[in-house]
Amino acid sequence: MMNTKLCTIWNRKGGVGKTLLTINIATYLASKGKRVLLIDIDQQANLTSRLYSSVHNSPTLGDCIINNIDISNCILKGINESYKTLDLIPSNSNMRFLEELLIKSQNQDTVIANYLSANMKYLKEYDYIFFDMPPSNNVIGRNILVYTNIVFITEYSNNDSIDMINSYLFEYQEDVKRLGLNSALNFAILINRYTSKKDSGTKLYEQYLDRFEHLKPFILNTKINESVVMKNANTFRLTVEDYIRTFGGRKNAINQLESVVNELIERGVL
Ligand SMILES: Nc1ncnc2c1ncn2[C@@H]1O[C@H](COP(=O)(O)OP(=O)(O)OP(=O)(O)O)[C@@H](O)[C@H]1O
Ligand SMILES: [Mg+2]
Repeated sequence: MMNTKLCTIWNRKGGVGKTLLTINIATYLASKGKRVLLIDIDQQANLTSRLYSSVHNSPTLGDCIINNIDISNCILKGINESYKTLDLIPSNSNMRFLEELLIKSQNQDTVIANYLSANMKYLKEYDYIFFDMPPSNNVIGRNILVYTNIVFITEYSNNDSIDMINSYLFEYQEDVKRLGLNSALNFAILINRYTSKKDSGTKLYEQYLDRFEHLKPFILNTKINESVVMKNANTFRLTVEDYIRTFGGRKNAINQLESVVNELIERGVL
């Protein structure tokens, strides 16, 4: 039995803060000495650009699977001075070749999981593995999502981002049935870009959320506020912690991340 926790911070809705929160939750855990591996699955490679480089020839997960070589060949160790226990498997547009391979494969929804299982001796070194996914559950996404815990992100005032969590939960049931798995999804929902200022948009969002009583028990008490620190940290390609250390700023964002991580650990999602 592996103690490594696999987690994906996700919504099919684009631009809701998946990559920003993946980076900051992962680096928060690394700052506490946890061994963390980030696997960038997204062809957009935003996480790779922000933490490593926007142009690189380092092998991706796709390159290793296609060439049938060990995952150790694409793990970049110690990519960030501040987080010695943080490793990265980078992405670039080569990931499109993995998608093409999966589409042609007979067991297209399990190729990645089988590859990860075969490489467990490298992966079990980590306390946490996070996958940064595109806003899609295409064939690559389905490979990942049925095997990891999920933190769904809903963007405050964005009702579509609630709809998409709700609809994905139905698709998940179909996917696990089709794959013959009988696992219940271990998930939580995190509200991002929260603001206490009430206007017609936020009121409508709160009313809309009331329609989804079955989702409410999964919503974390802690919300991540809309904040200049979060936004700027992203623009400067720094973690929130490094941004505040360099430029100063209120520590609210870090306190919220800490509290989110604690709630996720309590719920067994992390
Ligand atoms: N709490 C927040 N406060 C301020 N800005 C935020 C917050 N969360 C996200 N953003 C902004 O939203 C934008 C999108 O964030 P991010 O790239 O993490 O989204 P994503 O869901 O990964 O997008 P994609 O679907 O393209 O992968 C970023 O420019 C970021 O600055
Ligand atoms: Mg992203």
